[in-house]
Amino acid sequence: MRIEPRDRLIVALDLPSVEAAEAMVARLGDGVSFYKIGYQLGFAGGLALSRRLVDAGKQVFIDLKLHDIANTVAQGVRSVARLGATFLTVHAYPQTMQAAVEAREGKLRILAVTVLTSFNDDDLAAAGYAMGVADLVARRARQARDIGVDGLVCSAEEVAALRGIVGSEMALVTPGIRPTGSAAGEQKRIATPAQAIASGADYLVVGRPIITAADPKAAAAAIIDEISRASE
Ligand code: C5P
Repeated sequence: MRIEPRDRLIVALDLPSVEAAEAMVARLGDGVSFYKIGYQLGFAGGLALSRRLVDAGKQVFIDLKLHDIANTVAQGVRSVARLGATFLTVHAYPQTMQAAVEAREGKLRILAVTVLTSFNDDDLAAAGYAMGVADLVARRARQARDIGVDGLVCSAEEVAALRGIVGSEMALVTPGIRPTGSAAGEQKRIATPAQAIASGADYLVVGRPIITAADPKAAAAAIIDEISRASE
């Protein structure tokens, strides 16, 4: 998949208000083309911001990780498509993925979250699963591929194995990115932008290393530069 380096960076607008998000988008200006809206901003009026970002020529990733009965998922997906979004996450349950894929329209693409990266084998056992994280991630990746899901959200260290399962057509979208020298926060499995691109990620999701930087525009430009050099 050939994507322009700038379009491979998705900035997570993990901010408390639409005003704060709009101020960040204005500071980043033409330097950033793709934004992610998650729970914090989405439930604070950020879904309406999505439409405005799209009208301003940006791409939007709605990260609300849907999971419900098929009819409810389908209706939600149609509403997200009307926001003009490019990506929407769902949990990787077969019914949920099937409903989302059938309901997607326009340019909306469905990304599946296989297993939350905060889960380990013990957490899965506590939740009633009889398999460990690695096996469940692989199983759900195969199911996502067979259902026709457009991509997966995964850590940089999962990219190579998942690429082997899903092939080159599905997009692999990777959070947990930390430029050399920046704070990890609570992210445990981190990679630099260059490492993630070299391992085969298509898109990188970056939040705090950009939005809490003293100069967010310079931080974004440095990451895009690193993506660019790693993609050559
Ligand atoms: O600030 P930071 O760069 O850690 O932000 C990462 C973003 O990616 C957050 O919006 C977070 O919700 C999201 N994310 C993640 N790990 C996942 C899936 C999504 O950090 N496994």
